[in-house]
Amino acid sequence: MMTEEERIKEACRWLSQFKNIAILTGAGISKESGIPTFRGKDGMWKKYRVEEMATPYAFQQDPRKVWEWYDWRRQLIMKANPNPAHRTIAEMENIYPKFTVITQNVDGLHKRAGCKNLIELHGNIWRARCIDEERIFGFTEVPLRHIPPQCECGSLIRPDVVWFGEPMPKKEVAEAFTLAEECDVMMVVGTSALVAPAASLPYAAKKNHAYIIEVNLESTPITTIADVSLFGMAGEILPELWSNVKKELDNDKSE
Ligand code: APR
Repeated sequence: MMTEEERIKEACRWLSQFKNIAILTGAGISKESGIPTFRGKDGMWKKYRVEEMATPYAFQQDPRKVWEWYDWRRQLIMKANPNPAHRTIAEMENIYPKFTVITQNVDGLHKRAGCKNLIELHGNIWRARCIDEERIFGFTEVPLRHIPPQCECGSLIRPDVVWFGEPMPKKEVAEAFTLAEECDVMMVVGTSALVAPAASLPYAAKKNHAYIIEVNLESTPITTIADVSLFGMAGEILPELWSNVKKELDNDKSE
């Protein structure tokens, strides 16, 4: 068994050696910004039922209730700020020739931290769309005055996120798998890795011989395939790891 220090060192070695990096993130990365995760002790799926909040059927049955929930989440997210984990990832992007963040989060915090190469697999809570037309709306008003909002065409507008039982955006998924297959190192941060197809990305990366570095409070299905798992808060581990990588990169330059 490697010690924590040895594990950090290994992760640091790969991150200084390789140039094509993919980062997969989940709700855990935004936890330290004050946004609740879905699973686990304080997870939202303990308080709310998926079937009543996050399925096309739920929206059809009670659009007001679904919108109220999303509006509450948007209020939390509006008050939140990117934390050191988001900021470290945004800084990393400036250093590597090939670097992409693939997120399951809809909160937009990666973008607010400055990330540019970003794939949002589950949509974005700040966008909404008409259920009948292809019209997309950027929503900044929080709380919404009229719930549920309506399109000019008279149809309802829904959050532009991926609900359970819905297909994922094809282009984003295809891009994410290509990146997973091509990357040298994949970091998997703050996801329980239970929801497909995001959960399959680390397997695709591993199959193509990438090193997998996991950052999580606890073990997940990914722990068994990870080359290194770093257990703790993403907002602490990422900055520490990155400051070691930067030292290593500076050493390489001066040699
Ligand atoms: N640092 C690192 N990891 C953390 C932290 C933290 N500060 N806090 C929580 N975690 C970890 C938890 O241990 C857990 O493994 O983050 C993970 C959060 O898991 P989920 O709540 O299941 O979130 P996620 O994996 O993103 O869920 C996937 O499920 O319901 C859906 O659409 C929703 O996109 C979401 C998808």
